[in-house]
Amino acid sequence: MSATIKTVSFQGVDVLDVDVQVQLASGMPAFSIVGLPDKAVAESRERVRAALHALGISLPAKRLTINLAPADLAKEGSHFDLPIALGVLAVMNVIPAEEMKDYIALGELSLDSSIRSVNGVLPAAMHAAETGKGLIVPYACGGEAAWAGDIDLLAPQNLLQFINHMKGTQVLAKPTAKLKEEPPLSTPDLSEVKGQETAKRALEIAAAGGHNMLMIGPPGSGKSMLASCLPSILPKLSPKEALDVSMIHSLSGSLPEGGLLSRRPFRDPHHSASQPSLIGGGSKAKPGEISLAHHGILFLDEFPEFQRSTLEALRQPLETGRVLVSRVNYHVTYPARFQLIAAMNPCRCGYMGDPDMECTKAPRCGGDYQNKISGPMFDRIDLTVDVPAVQIADLQSDVPAESSAQVAQRVLNARLIQKTRFESFNSDIEINAHANGDILEQIAPMDDLAKKLLAQATQSMKLSARAYHRVLRLARTIADLDSAPDYLSKPHIAEALSYRKLVLKG
Ligand SMILES: Nc1ncnc2c1ncn2[C@@H]1O[C@H](COP(=O)(O)OP(=O)(O)O)[C@@H](O)[C@H]1O
Ligand SMILES: [Mg+2]
Repeated sequence: MSATIKTVSFQGVDVLDVDVQVQLASGMPAFSIVGLPDKAVAESRERVRAALHALGISLPAKRLTINLAPADLAKEGSHFDLPIALGVLAVMNVIPAEEMKDYIALGELSLDSSIRSVNGVLPAAMHAAETGKGLIVPYACGGEAAWAGDIDLLAPQNLLQFINHMKGTQVLAKPTAKLKEEPPLSTPDLSEVKGQETAKRALEIAAAGGHNMLMIGPPGSGKSMLASCLPSILPKLSPKEALDVSMIHSLSGSLPEGGLLSRRPFRDPHHSASQPSLIGGGSKAKPGEISLAHHGILFLDEFPEFQRSTLEALRQPLETGRVLVSRVNYHVTYPARFQLIAAMNPCRCGYMGDPDMECTKAPRCGGDYQNKISGPMFDRIDLTVDVPAVQIADLQSDVPAESSAQVAQRVLNARLIQKTRFESFNSDIEINAHANGDILEQIAPMDDLAKKLLAQATQSMKLSARAYHRVLRLARTIADLDSAPDYLSKPHIAEALSYRKLVLKG
């Protein structure tokens, strides 16, 4: 007697089919799982046995073999409990084996037979929709799975509910797609930041076009505060982006309430973060912070304090928008199209440039400190702004500053202009920061004066080809914030150039 239930295994955001084959044969009573199970899958045996026991079902005194096929693919995680238990129930004729073969099942079992939530339900649901299969997931993940569209979806709370549903004695309600309930933003409003007009302008440009930005200034000038205002001026995720981002968060287990994310991710790992936690990897090749920040912000505060090798590892994903995480026997690719926002002090003591406060080693110490960030990394930063100490007059001023909502409206307008323009070129890019090659030349034509200025600056500032293109993209966004017509003019290029960091000698 045998039965097969389908489930899945994850490699990055790719979903692979796995068959759970269950065979009941005469012989010495046994319960074995084969097919490269990891520890969590091997322990599944005990949970399945206990969950069935809780239902008053004891395993037959026969030889029970579970094979997870294909046998050469490593199986990881606790979501194999449910398909294994369903396979066992099918082979014991508690549920009809024939009806089960068109379902993909994933879920973890408790000893009392309730079904606990697992990671990766959203990608599994998308896979079920693509392959025309039904899906059985834990009740808590039903809202997440329902985003996959019109699939045959069952989300029982426990095994008994599922058995009753299959017998027709208690029909399970179909889960509905829900958005994750996100609490109101607890971040400061831009109106609370006094002074710092240049930095605020740069922040607005960065938000409008998705450009990378670095703030340099003494302690307590408001760098971290400015960065934390960014979520309040960014537009919400589009449905497509929300799905992309939620897939990654689903895999890493950070979609606990089972809904889709609607707010742009803002990730601010501490500078002691290890390379695998930032880039992705570890024994399970999990997505790192850069992938969790996909379509959102990666804020690296105290930039030079990060390990140098970790920072250098950001270079490639910054260009390509994805990261290849290698393991011993396979590679997984995660999307990582994030916007880098960084903040740093000008030197270790923090006061270089302030004659009253700077230490005796200035300016040498500043050069040493800033040299911790490599040239290629600076080259990838579009906006570098000085954030000087706040003036007392600004701190005590009662002239109201612009609120986040006002700035957010301008950012949204600029993003709409960009989207419409890209659509007119038949491109699916949405923001200027992602424009490359041909499309960049098409969206950013310059008038003669602008061209001349950029040519001169490229020579005198020794801009690399990458920097040249980054200036163009930035100028495009500046013009879009101005609602300027298609051609970039001299002031747009001049402002974009003013944000480029001059690489110090030494
Ligand atoms: N420009 C500013 N306007 C209003 N408050 C500020 C400003 N800059 C700093 N502060 C105050 O100082 C605190 C620390 O600022 P923070 O952004 O952490 O400084 P930094 O990161 O530059 O060292 C803030 O929480 C805020 O109370
Ligand atoms: Mg700070």
